[in-house]
Amino acid sequence: MLTYHFDSNLQLPKYEHLYNCIKEDIIQKKLKPHDKLPSKRALAKHLQISHITVETAYDQLKIEGYIYSVEKSGYFVQDVPTQAKVPSRKQEQKNAQPTKRYAIDLKSNTVSTKTFPFHTWAKLTRQVLTNENQNLLIKAPQKGCHELRSEIVNHLYKFHGIDVDVEQVVVGAGTEYLYNIIIQLIGRDKRYALEDPGHKGISRVYRSNGIDPLFIPVDGQGMAIQQLESINPDIAHISPAHHFPTGITMPIQRRLAILKWAYLNQRYIIEDDYDSELRLKGNPVPPLFKIDQHEQVFYMNTFSKTLSPSLRIAYLVIPHHMIKHYEEQFNGFSCSVSSFEQLIIAAMINQGYFERHINRMRNTYKKIRDLLIEHLESSSIIDKISIKEEQAGLHFLIKYKSQLTDLEIEKKAQSLGLNVSTLSSYYQNYKETQTLVINYSGLDELDIPLTIQLLDALLEY
Ligand SMILES: Cc1ncc(COP(=O)(O)O)c(C=O)c1O
Repeated sequence: MLTYHFDSNLQLPKYEHLYNCIKEDIIQKKLKPHDKLPSKRALAKHLQISHITVETAYDQLKIEGYIYSVEKSGYFVQDVPTQAKVPSRKQEQKNAQPTKRYAIDLKSNTVSTKTFPFHTWAKLTRQVLTNENQNLLIKAPQKGCHELRSEIVNHLYKFHGIDVDVEQVVVGAGTEYLYNIIIQLIGRDKRYALEDPGHKGISRVYRSNGIDPLFIPVDGQGMAIQQLESINPDIAHISPAHHFPTGITMPIQRRLAILKWAYLNQRYIIEDDYDSELRLKGNPVPPLFKIDQHEQVFYMNTFSKTLSPSLRIAYLVIPHHMIKHYEEQFNGFSCSVSSFEQLIIAAMINQGYFERHINRMRNTYKKIRDLLIEHLESSSIIDKISIKEEQAGLHFLIKYKSQLTDLEIEKKAQSLGLNVSTLSSYYQNYKETQTLVINYSGLDELDIPLTIQLLDALLEY
């Protein structure tokens, strides 16, 4: 039987230690190709660790091709190349990514790798390289390539009913970059209010600009209007279509109340519409920008959720009366996004691939969400939890009861190989505890049984 030592001071999760030990033995040929591995139950008993620890380690080894399984027979060692072709431990450490690997990740900002349209991307890349070779080598205007900006105008009209002028559209390297642009445009001396809880990246950008943001609680309808009126900041930064992390969609009454506040006090709203295209039920909610009649709203959206966060491409729509001020301030600077990618995305929208891709993503995410909820509901875990805010895109909440603090729950999850955050970790002030934020955007259908087991192990009393 395989025997490995589990030191009490072990710095790694147990499953990762076990995975490393078995992998090393396979590389060193201590475990020979096609050797049968002990059953999960037998190994767990022998090493005095949990069944789920062995299962997580085996799953990871299987994903990486070190072992394979045969139905009803068990797990076997794969024939991997000899040591010379495999990087040494030292080399592996050198090459290692600083980011931690988890068996299941319900936290990171990822998209399903199976749905990225690689084939279309390759085809459009060839098309752009052939047809646009002159254009490609000319530096794009500061606001972005005209082709992409005018396709964004078409997309906004078709998808959200927003009618904007191409000169209002600015393309930039992700929403964080564009928040910086708005801050420079409006001024660092202004009072900015953010939602509490909220996306951590947003407050980080304000703080790195020397701004101490004001935090306004989110109630059942979004940013609380009474606090907003009494604090009366210069700018309110909100995500009404689908608040992160609570998942709340702001109803029309609150939208109108916030617009009225902005109009009466001559304030601005930053509307962060980051995942509105991926709403899974009903139609996309009309943005504040569409119902605003007094040019009080800066609208932002990103290709991070619809295409991939690795692209780092987002866009901003500035109020019409700000165009001149914007151009005076930024015209001397360069666009932060490569023309290559801009022209590919422009072709993607223009030729209908983007819309088809969004529909496909919606179906994929809906399927994953439904399967995940179905599995949760049919497992014994459902007696310990309740599910909330599952209709908008890409994440929902699980309320649970536990003797552990939220921080202890996050740590326990990590030791099981599960990356998940608690809602309280996104708060500045008031904290709603005992709630997990389940971001399923990077989850594969095949990961669902393991996800349920890990959540069950996490929440067992
Ligand atoms: C509120 C919010 N805005 C924007 C984004 C996307 O940001 P970026 O375009 O920088 O990837 C996210 C990602 O999770 C988010 O939660």
